[in-house]
Amino acid sequence: MNPVATRLDDGVFVIIADNPPVNALSQAVRDGLMRAIGAAADSGAACAVIACAGRTFFSGADITEFGKPPKAPSLPEVIDAIEACPIPVIAAIHGAALGGGLEVALGCDYRMMVSSARAGLPEVTLGIIPGAGGTQRLPRLIALSEALEMIVTGKPVSAARALETGLADHVAEGEALAAALAFARSGKLEKRPLGARPSPAADDKAFAAWRGHAETRMRGQIAPQRAIDAVQAACALGTPDGLAKEREIFLDLVTGAQSRALRYAFFAERAASKIAGLAAEPLPLDRAAVIGAGTMGAGIAAAFMNAGIPVALFDQNPEALAAGLARIAAIRDGDLAKGRIGEAEHSRRAGLVSGVSGYDELKGVDLVIEAVFEDMDVKKAVFAELDKAVKPGAILATNTSYLDVNEIASVTGRPGSVLGLHFFSPAHIMRLLEIVQADRTSDAALAAALTLAKRLGKTPVVARVGHGFIGNRMLSGYGREAGLLAIEGASPQDIDAALYDFGMPMGPFAMADMAGLDIGYSMRRKLDPSHYEPRATALHDRLVEMGRKGQKTGAGIYAYAPGSRAPKPDPEVEALIEQIAAEQGVKRRRIGADEIVDRCILALVNEGAKVLAEGVARSGSDIDVVYLHGYGFPRWRGGPMFHADERGLKEVLARIESFAAAHGPRWWAPAPLLTELATKGGRLSEYSS
Ligand code: 3HC
Repeated sequence: MNPVATRLDDGVFVIIADNPPVNALSQAVRDGLMRAIGAAADSGAACAVIACAGRTFFSGADITEFGKPPKAPSLPEVIDAIEACPIPVIAAIHGAALGGGLEVALGCDYRMMVSSARAGLPEVTLGIIPGAGGTQRLPRLIALSEALEMIVTGKPVSAARALETGLADHVAEGEALAAALAFARSGKLEKRPLGARPSPAADDKAFAAWRGHAETRMRGQIAPQRAIDAVQAACALGTPDGLAKEREIFLDLVTGAQSRALRYAFFAERAASKIAGLAAEPLPLDRAAVIGAGTMGAGIAAAFMNAGIPVALFDQNPEALAAGLARIAAIRDGDLAKGRIGEAEHSRRAGLVSGVSGYDELKGVDLVIEAVFEDMDVKKAVFAELDKAVKPGAILATNTSYLDVNEIASVTGRPGSVLGLHFFSPAHIMRLLEIVQADRTSDAALAAALTLAKRLGKTPVVARVGHGFIGNRMLSGYGREAGLLAIEGASPQDIDAALYDFGMPMGPFAMADMAGLDIGYSMRRKLDPSHYEPRATALHDRLVEMGRKGQKTGAGIYAYAPGSRAPKPDPEVEALIEQIAAEQGVKRRRIGADEIVDRCILALVNEGAKVLAEGVARSGSDIDVVYLHGYGFPRWRGGPMFHADERGLKEVLARIESFAAAHGPRWWAPAPLLTELATKGGRLSEYSS
């Protein structure tokens, strides 16, 4: 069926595309548009309108077609045809005009947006550049620096901003097609093809500024720099040559490793929130409570406040409660000061948060999230109280990072309503939400948690019960190897630099200092020794015992100048490392960046394969989503599982076997699933348990 319909509406030729869910510009849509434009040219109408049915204007090229043989007509051909159409064409934009969708609109003579609509060129987020004229036509329409901002950052602009910059000709309220028809009839329209305009003037300062931005803020990514190359071509070359240059860069990037990884990440995120066979209606979540007013509890409550959900912060210690409420107030005050919210929203948010100190005050809530001290006995005591106090059917969630959610559920009379909601700190900012499905968690509670994640603007991943769930379980191997590498001869700064260069936001030692070395220290005191390697944590333990707990004490693995967060290598720590190595009988050696990266990253991969085989993670792509959103794994590498697949599982297995030979099988015995996929063929990122 042709997804593009046409009709003549009182002298205006109307073209409506309908390709649910988001009107991606698939081959069928491109073909339909091409034919519709041909018909518009012959229609005798004064002008044409291109609009979309459903929830949005065209959201871009159909990403599922990338990497497959191209099918005619191409999007550039369709847009050239729109531009060459003898009658003026108006784009009627609602929802979002993204990527190829905005490029279609730039091929039109007029852009009409409804006030709630957005427009953007997010191609760099997929590792590509606009490939259908976006880098050539946009700088011919709006100021070069504005065009660079949209193309390099990939961030969409609002209709109001589009009107200010000249991207939109008209912004209207109401339904897009009706508004576009009114606009079409409001005056005399003319042909004004952007492709025929002279080249924009080059601005070397703007190019240098955006190259610098891309280098620091989008570190490691190729596409933003190549997008600037394309805009420079718009200035230096005329339209046909500029368009050809843009297409050449687009085709080069779309077949490259970064784009493959980024497209994978896009679909992995969407797959993570879909649980096959989960048909239950989600339980309603209109009022929430958070138990424990520490940093984590306050951050979680702030996430609810920001999402517009009334939330009670509970703590029996009045000082702790006041401090937690003050933290939440500081978060909304900060948003007001930075202009992210206005006065009205600020007071609305203030009204959503209350402080409570008695369990009987929690009767009416639909969901409670416990964020108290990480201790099984303490948590069980809290859950027993909650079970008595909170209305039947309400969900009781724990924010534990490691503990057994089944055991916590066992002290309640409603195990079906108990699950884990593991937020990452700072909880109002970090996007990952690990939802821990315990053995008896009901489908309705799980469905409610997934719906909640969406309302909070989080990316959910469902995990099963297991020590440290997905993320922290795998991270322990990463931290262990970093600790061992330091004893074996690499300096903390070499290890941090190697992993930073790999693309991590910071190295494991700088990260440990930031989080506080005492956190791991006290956790290890309660942990079964089978879960960690004391040789790897000896340095951290000694430092804590010396009072060096990290940034907060001005010294940890690194030294910090007063008031500074910049880590400085410390000779005292170097000497301590040498002393520990001598005590452990380790002969120190020079270790290169390749070994550092492989030891740390392949430890993640090997543990990830075990987590997958045990069913703690439902799929390899879920593991990748956890690492992208919870641990800052470079998105352009897809995640640890995808990274291993791209490198080749045979090679990964051989490297792990070499580590097992050198360091023993205790931590390095290859995961059976990895061995199986490497020998029989298969990909970790495509594996589901
Ligand atoms: N191609 C193919 N499928 C797409 C798609 C696209 N461009 N955009 C979204 N989808 C799919 C999603 O995978 C999802 O499928 P599923 O239901 O099977 O999981 C479905 O559409 C709905 O998407 P969302 O869940 O993301 O829906 P939201 O309402 O939350 O968001 C959106 C809608 C803002 C349009 C968001 O989907 C989005 O950002 N899409 C990508 C936009 C984009 O990057 N466009 C540029 C593409 S590249 C390009 O145009 C190149 C050109 O220059 C030549």
